[in-house]
Amino acid sequence: MEKKSLGPSTLVFPMPSFLIGSMVNGKPNVMTCAWGGVACGNPPIISIAVRPSRYSYLGIQENETFSVNVPNADMAVQADYCGIVSGKKKNKIEVCEYSIFYGHLETAPMIEECPINLECKLINNIELGSHNLLLGEVVDTFVSENCFTDGQLDINIIKPLVYSPGPVNAYQTLSEILAPAFKCGKELVHKK
Ligand SMILES: Cc1cc2nc3c(=O)[nH]c(=O)nc-3n(C[C@H](O)[C@H](O)[C@H](O)COP(=O)(O)O)c2cc1C
Repeated sequence: MEKKSLGPSTLVFPMPSFLIGSMVNGKPNVMTCAWGGVACGNPPIISIAVRPSRYSYLGIQENETFSVNVPNADMAVQADYCGIVSGKKKNKIEVCEYSIFYGHLETAPMIEECPINLECKLINNIELGSHNLLLGEVVDTFVSENCFTDGQLDINIIKPLVYSPGPVNAYQTLSEILAPAFKCGKELVHKK
């Protein structure tokens, strides 16, 4: 198949729509962050790419803590708002009517309404260009109790909000489960 070159880009699908919680000037703040993911399993480390001009960046740098909150598909409007308005100008937590809770750290506010919350300690801050890569070691993971079915995490209840960049530029849900991971490829293991 012929390929069309688009030049250097960061085009990957899908992206998360993390809500990053931080304490800025003594108040909790939330910003939307699509450029994030898993950086290490043991110890558990999450990476987020944040422009130093963000209000959130000030608080993360000062306190060396932040939270990663995974919003549910029903939270698209609030997630978008937290990505287009700065905490410098508005109290986004009040506007979104989020309930804030804390775990082990005093400066990593988490959003109760999000099904998954990761409480993180900043362990590295790497200047890359437009964005700094912030690495957060996860201190604890919180999951809403209603997200379990028969004791197992239920992805259909968590229903994470995902972001599709580029020309799509929209929030989406995950689609159907296709095949079991670390398993369905086995049918090719013995193929010559
Ligand atoms: C879908 C979406 C994804 C975003 N992803 C990022 C990101 O990965 N990194 C970043 O620095 N800003 C990102 N932003 C922009 C910030 O969320 C936005 O500038 C926000 O107002 C910053 O809030 P603050 O000034 O209160 O920290 C994103 C915005 C949207 C709508």
